[in-house]
Amino acid sequence: MNKEHQEIQAVIFDLDGVITDTAKYHYEAWKQLAEELGIHFDLEFNEQLKGIDRMASLEKILSALPDGGAAFTLEQKQEWAERKNNNYKRLIQTVDKSEILPGILDLFHDLEYAGIPIGLASASRNAGTLLRQLKVESYIHVIADPENVAHGKPAPDIFLKAAEELGVDPHYCVGIEDAEAGVQAIKSAGMFAVGVGDAEILSKADYIVPETSKLSLSDIKQHMAGR
Ligand code: BG6
Ligand code: MG
Repeated sequence: MNKEHQEIQAVIFDLDGVITDTAKYHYEAWKQLAEELGIHFDLEFNEQLKGIDRMASLEKILSALPDGGAAFTLEQKQEWAERKNNNYKRLIQTVDKSEILPGILDLFHDLEYAGIPIGLASASRNAGTLLRQLKVESYIHVIADPENVAHGKPAPDIFLKAAEELGVDPHYCVGIEDAEAGVQAIKSAGMFAVGVGDAEILSKADYIVPETSKLSLSDIKQHMAGR
């Protein structure tokens, strides 16, 4: 079928919290760092960091200090960010394919069978390593590189980049996200947003499922057809 007339031309996935539950490792890694800085860090605070790149996340954490982090030089901030990344890399060392979230491989297979390409739009510089550890690289046609986009989520850049590299029209793309900033990015890119998680947090999504095991290509198609 001609690409222009297909309902769904591509599905673009977030990684952390969608393909695998590494969102919990980002949380732990930031918590270790925040505690070293004497900042109270809990799940509610963490929710604001989901989907947000490393330096922007650090800035949000430092803004909880009485001086908003003004005393730190750029070099010191880079050291803290590297420290968080080292915490995170230690935590993901043992991640393997058993940590692919339920329903994701079935969805990959259904997309493959339907001839719908898969893109990745993750803010993480560790995405390549994780995809290798999870052994899912072969399903993913395009990985948009966060280093090559001007603005991180909630800006649409990384989703648009993935669509551009796949050669598809964003209007006919589906984006799947677990973070509020990610859903905003998908919507700003003009795509159909599927949220995975809390319906209140992800309220801007076009279609929300509580967990990845509830994702199905036929349900997504049905909801997209009714938009
Ligand atoms: C996103 C995560 O996928 O990647 C964020 O949701 C994380 O929590 C961001 O900060 C950047 O990841 P990394 O691995 O480059 O520090
Ligand atoms: Mg995520």
